[in-house]
Amino acid sequence: MRVIVTGASSGIGYQLALQLARSGSRVLVTARRKERLDQLIAESLVGADHTTGQIHALPGNLTDPAHRAAIADWCYREWGGIDTLVNNAGAGAIGPFADASADRLRRVMEIDFFAPVELTRICLPLLLNGISPAVLNIGSVLGHRAVPDKSEYCAAKFAMRGWSESIRVELAQLNVEVLMVSPSTTKSEFFDSLVDTNPDIKSRSLGIMSPERVAQLAIRALVKSKRDMILSLGGKVLVWLGRFFPRLTDFILTRTNDDDSLKGATGKSSTKP
Ligand SMILES: NC(=O)c1ccc[n+]([C@@H]2O[C@H](COP(=O)([O-])OP(=O)(O)OC[C@H]3O[C@@H](n4cnc5c(N)ncnc54)[C@H](OP(=O)(O)O)[C@@H]3O)[C@@H](O)[C@H]2O)c1
Repeated sequence: MRVIVTGASSGIGYQLALQLARSGSRVLVTARRKERLDQLIAESLVGADHTTGQIHALPGNLTDPAHRAAIADWCYREWGGIDTLVNNAGAGAIGPFADASADRLRRVMEIDFFAPVELTRICLPLLLNGISPAVLNIGSVLGHRAVPDKSEYCAAKFAMRGWSESIRVELAQLNVEVLMVSPSTTKSEFFDSLVDTNPDIKSRSLGIMSPERVAQLAIRALVKSKRDMILSLGGKVLVWLGRFFPRLTDFILTRTNDDDSLKGATGKSSTKP
């Protein structure tokens, strides 16, 4: 299988690329930090044999159209097509909407929504040359049920989900599958690289998944063609509550958000994805 994995320099993307290569896929990885991608390649070579796939790195900023074009060009030149595009790269932001700048919203939307959408657009001809082609989008539970103090991130992940649902039906006619997996809080560098966010802001969670586990479940979703999968029990409960008891969910989230014991140094608290 020929796979593109975005955001492979840490967390879920790193593990996805590693596990895909170990199961024999050829993987093109991208992210801004070249040294991390080199480290990923080195790790994939430990214990490698003839069944291990190769990882190739193309570092760059995914919000730059020229970098997205370079990714597609490389795949045309080297592979002639791709079988799977994994849109994983992303970033969050925490803090009240009222205090935030327009710039924060734009930056979050650029990396979490416009970049994967436009990369998918230019990769479509490559996918049409693929075998059982699929687009796998890494969403979030917060793309199913929004929480306070993450308005930009929730908006971006809701947008990604709406777009995925729409093109899933369009691309079915072209035999390209569109899948989405939605993790809950995952132990990664996500909370170290929040966009325009006070570093003192604390976040809390009901349970934390490992990136290895999230990657395993995402690959399972790909193999089994699961169209829209929420990965944790806590995430499923939140989404279920929000769907059937929206007012109660609002009430709980309001109380939780106001609870002094949960507040960080800035006086704000938050619920992790
Ligand atoms: N961690 C969670 O709690 C959680 C929960 C639900 C969903 N998710 C989703 O899971 C996905 C992966 O997140 P993660 O938890 O693995 O976080 P992470 O460890 O911070 O990884 C994010 C990846 O995205 C890349 N990235 C960010 N901005 C980029 C840009 N402008 N251009 C290119 N690459 C960029 C980063 O690489 P560079 O910095 O090297 O560019 C990094 O490889 C995201 O879509 C996130 O929304 C995470």
